[in-house]
Amino acid sequence: DAGDPAAGESVFRKCQACHAIGEGARNKVGPQLNGIVGREAASVEGYKYSKPAVEHASVTGPWDEAEIVEYLADPSAFIGGRSKMAFKLPNEKERADVVAYLATFNED
Ligand code: HEM
Repeated sequence: DAGDPAAGESVFRKCQACHAIGEGARNKVGPQLNGIVGREAASVEGYKYSKPAVEHASVTGPWDEAEIVEYLADPSAFIGGRSKMAFKLPNEKERADVVAYLATFNED
């Protein structure tokens, strides 16, 4: 199940219209993703999340890798309401790979 972070870097191109990660990453259409693995859900200062995302965050712990893999398949289904993230990544390998890539930014 462990994803391949190098493959995930290419997958992340699909995310980049909306998300930045790495040094100096700022919020775009979506929140910056530094430290997302282990980060409290819907917690980026200055970013306005959807109401369902905020409500989901109030009843869940910090993001773990398996949860992000599931979230990416269908964000609205995962949070139980209409997410502002209108993007789905159906391919399971791509999901695992991109999450492994996101996790590399936890090591800095
Ligand atoms: C939220 C990852 C693609 C727009 C999120 C969150 C994650 C994530 C983990 C939750 C952040 C948090 O709780 O702080 C990704 C990844 C993508 C991707 C890995 C590519 C595979 C996109 C794309 C868009 C987008 C293409 C825009 C078309 C958003 C928005 C939110 C969000 C607007 C806030 C959701 C809400 O408030 O309901 N994304 N995303 N994402 N993403 Fe993405």
